[in-house]
Amino acid sequence: MSLQLLGGLSPQQFLDEYWQKKPLLIRQAVTDFPELIDLPRLIELAQRDDVESRLIEFKKNRWHMEHGPFRKARFDKLPESDWTVLVSNVNQHVDHVSELLYRFNFLPYTRLDDLMISYAPEGGSVGPHYDSYDVFLLQVGGTKRWQISSDDAGNFIEDAPIRVLKDFASEQEWVLEHGDMLYLPPKYAHHGVALTPGMTYSIGFRAPKTQEIAGRFLEFLQDELKLDGMLSDPGRKTVEQPAEIDGDFSTRIKAMLQEISWNDDTIGRFIGQYFTEPKNHVVYDAPDEPLDFDEFAASVAQHGISLDLKSQMLFDAEHIYINGEAVDCEPEAIATLRELANQRSLPADDYDDSVLEVLYAYYDYGYLQLAG
Ligand code: SIN
Ligand code: CO
Repeated sequence: MSLQLLGGLSPQQFLDEYWQKKPLLIRQAVTDFPELIDLPRLIELAQRDDVESRLIEFKKNRWHMEHGPFRKARFDKLPESDWTVLVSNVNQHVDHVSELLYRFNFLPYTRLDDLMISYAPEGGSVGPHYDSYDVFLLQVGGTKRWQISSDDAGNFIEDAPIRVLKDFASEQEWVLEHGDMLYLPPKYAHHGVALTPGMTYSIGFRAPKTQEIAGRFLEFLQDELKLDGMLSDPGRKTVEQPAEIDGDFSTRIKAMLQEISWNDDTIGRFIGQYFTEPKNHVVYDAPDEPLDFDEFAASVAQHGISLDLKSQMLFDAEHIYINGEAVDCEPEAIATLRELANQRSLPADDYDDSVLEVLYAYYDYGYLQLAG
């Protein structure tokens, strides 16, 4: 099936020809924005302490960066040009932005990260740089000139608060207008400059480093380990050099360490937990006046239910995971909960109690929101 979002390519064609390989410019990728965010709404988000935001300015020939949350007055003091405000994870706070992000669900949720929105007046830029992950840069309102280069070998400016390439030589350039989108694979250098005030919606992807995954796996394993035994040395002989770590001692310690083991199930549970873990800043809002179980069941039967915008739900062959934990459920509930994970919502229906009990518990935590 060809998608306007991908310039008429099918998702598989896009993945085969471009994904992780080469850039793609798509004119008029999105023409049916459900709604648009205006600057006051973006600034409102940049004032919240549960939202990650940054302000980047180029002034007096230097780059400057400030982290949010910002006071509203900060935006009154800004010049007419040459700054950018960036707000991450907007999909976790605004329904129609989440809807746009999940249009990219031909890629798995383990990879799809967030939708960040930047606003820049004329001249606003974050400088030439590259990112370590794939990104779709969607222009919303205004116009931005993007220059790109496959050369990622450049040095970064020293002492700059953001990573800006010193020697960036553009190989291709385009002016993006409302609805146009540029896909860039990881490490593709890019430089965007707003020609007229507007926003860029960046659809970003998760690409954790091996070191990060391994470190987090070891933390996970540490919490799981339950090893028996302790250091002992029956039959010990006296020692000549009491400061010496002798071979026999090292062998005993090595044997203890060899007790550490993991299997596919351990790895599966680690993946489920790690990839659904709430990001920094995330707070789930439990309902102020929760419905009781019967009222809840009636509401789901009539309107259905959705994952909260901040919830992450995945499953594998063995388990279902939500927000960093494995879901404890009856086998009868699995198919429906997998549907919830895939669709991020369930339509109105009379669900089995095995499903409703799980949903009710998570509704109470603020992981799910009633529809309607
Ligand atoms: C921007 O929104 O201008 C910058 C986004 C990016 O380069 O990744
Ligand atoms: Co970038």
